[in-house]
Amino acid sequence: MRSFSLIFKQFSRSVLLIAGFAFLGFSAYAQGDAAKGEAIFKAKCTTCHKIDSKLIGPALGPTVTDETDDKWLTHWIENNQALIAAKDPKALKIYNEYNQSGMTVFGELTDGDVANILAYVRTTWKTMQAAPKPGAGTQVAAETGPSDLVIYALIGVIVLAIIIILVLNKVIATLERLLSKNKDFVFEDEAVEVVAVDRLAGIKKLAKNKKFVFFALLCGTLALGSWTWVTMWNTNVHQGYQPVQPIKFPHDLHAGAMKIDCQYCHSGAYKSKNASIPSLNVCMNCHKVVKTESPEIHKIYDALGYDPQTQKYDSTKARPIQWVRIHNLPDFAYFNHSQHVKVAGLKCQTCHGPVQTMKEVYQYSPLTMKWCIQCHKRTDVNTKGNAYYENMIAVHDLIKQGKKVSEAAMGGIECGKCHY
Ligand code: HEC
Ligand code: HEC
Ligand code: HEC
Ligand code: HEC
Ligand code: HEC
Ligand code: HEC
Repeated sequence: MRSFSLIFKQFSRSVLLIAGFAFLGFSAYAQGDAAKGEAIFKAKCTTCHKIDSKLIGPALGPTVTDETDDKWLTHWIENNQALIAAKDPKALKIYNEYNQSGMTVFGELTDGDVANILAYVRTTWKTMQAAPKPGAGTQVAAETGPSDLVIYALIGVIVLAIIIILVLNKVIATLERLLSKNKDFVFEDEAVEVVAVDRLAGIKKLAKNKKFVFFALLCGTLALGSWTWVTMWNTNVHQGYQPVQPIKFPHDLHAGAMKIDCQYCHSGAYKSKNASIPSLNVCMNCHKVVKTESPEIHKIYDALGYDPQTQKYDSTKARPIQWVRIHNLPDFAYFNHSQHVKVAGLKCQTCHGPVQTMKEVYQYSPLTMKWCIQCHKRTDVNTKGNAYYENMIAVHDLIKQGKKVSEAAMGGIECGKCHY
């Protein structure tokens, strides 16, 4: 009897150990290179590709998973034009399929970068297939916390371990009973009867079984812990937020099909903290004559007190349109558009996603502190031809020579340092 229990104890310990290692290995696999790939993918590929659906280029999830020739993929991603010029049959086929739209050449990417991108696309596509998530923008939620994959794997491994242990417990109990009670031969149906009578007693016994109680508690704690963890990560994160706007303003038509520059309507982004929403007068530059019959455009007329018949404005009837704000940082965080758009030279799409393809705008990035910090860690500052950095180098030289430096030399009399 002793030996049975001992063997069982050792066995359940090894099952737990293996489960633990499997979990660790799995989470390392799911996050390792894919995390690096994600950053590159978001910075360079999302303007034209989505993982699960066609954008300007093909849906990368299925294509990159079906195409197993990584060498070819690496060639393609680094320099697709070279492959096309060399008349590579596969390259020509895709190129023609997509009306010769032409993908950007990414000479700056190393083979390692491409491997990371592929790892990210493949794992993300796998997760998407395992747990399809409806709703715009949620495909890229990986940055908001632990990946769902890891949590599902954890739960799966624990459930499996418990099942194995329960089954073994049962087998051992039966064997022990067989050996102790009926030293002689036991008929099969007799054994069944014993089990049937013992059903309620079995539950009681289970409650007394320390191993079982321990695992039930462990399971409960882990489930509750994961739930709290995920909830806390996602508190106040509104990625994918897409409120209903008073006028259904289609960005895909204006910024996409018609190619109106973002600057035409959001000029503030280039010269101030706020990107700003255009006034309806900007819309009237075109909509005085374009689509005058549309009910959506009539909302513009109503808001301005404009009468399309007489073509006159009546300011007494005017009332402002109440756009619902989508992106909103808390007041204690300072974010300046011109610093990122003008000075750093970032594209709007880096942070706001492919707005030119959105029927209605939604919040593309999580806007968490982690998101800001990660980009600040990964993005090199362009110091060339920037008076601010040239001044900094000059001040640095003065300090090195042991000379005195006034605050004014460090930019302390620039208006923006004290006013915003
Ligand atoms: C300017 C838009 C654009 C950007 C940016 C872009 N692609 Fe593409 N990509 C395309 C188009 C369009 C095609 C289809 C082939 C063609 O027309 O050249 C394509 C095709 C591909 C294919 C071939 C798919 C297949 O069917 O085998 C891969 C892989 C790919 N892109 C990966 C990437 C990756 C990775 C990045 C980011 C580093 C990226 N692309 C960035 C437009 C783009
Ligand atoms: C013809 C004018 C126009 C153009 C061009 C335009 N937008 Fe907009 N944009 C608007 C209006 C109006 C709103 C407010 C309504 C809405 O949210 O859909 C808006 C809202 C937004 C928002 C959401 C603001 C919020 O509430 O947080 C973002 C982000 C945005 N635009 C980015 C862009 C980008 C990037 C481009 C260029 C690719 C662009 N817009 C081009 C008019 C324009
Ligand atoms: C540079 C010219 C231009 C500007 C500026 C412009 N639009 Fe448009 N807009 C158009 C054109 C052209 C169409 C119609 C495309 C078509 O034929 O479907 C359109 C279509 C629309 C539609 C869809 C109407 C429907 O019933 O399909 C809405 C809504 C709209 N615009 C709202 C606005 C708003 C709001 C603004 C100001 C923030 C604005 N537009 C600024 C040119 C413009
Ligand atoms: C580095 C990331 C980043 C880039 C690049 C960026 N934005 Fe933003 N954008 C934000 C953040 C963060 C907010 C929220 C700001 C807040 O709540 O104070 C925002 C808010 C907005 C809003 C809402 C209204 C406002 O004025 O805050 C609009 C419109 C907008 N952005 C348009 C643009 C356009 C157009 C561009 C390109 C010219 C652009 N953004 C480039 C991060 C970015
Ligand atoms: C896509 C990349 C990216 C994201 C996302 C981003 N930033 Fe930046 N940020 C930059 C770069 C690049 C600079 C350097 C600009 C320069 O050359 O001065 C910068 C500079 C700044 C500065 C000036 C720092 C200094 O030393 O003066 C502040 C403040 C700032 N960012 C705040 C934010 C906040 C807040 C967020 C998140 C809401 C954010 N940034 C998100 C790329 C980013
Ligand atoms: C070292 C910080 C600092 C710098 C640099 C600075 N200011 Fe000021 N400024 C202030 C303070 C503080 C006040 C408020 C003084 C008061 O209320 O008496 C102020 C007030 C003002 C006012 C008056 C506002 C009002 O409502 O009365 C204006 C206008 C102004 N500043 C413009 C500028 C301009 C333009 C520049 C750049 C050339 C600049 N400031 C640079 C700190 C600064």
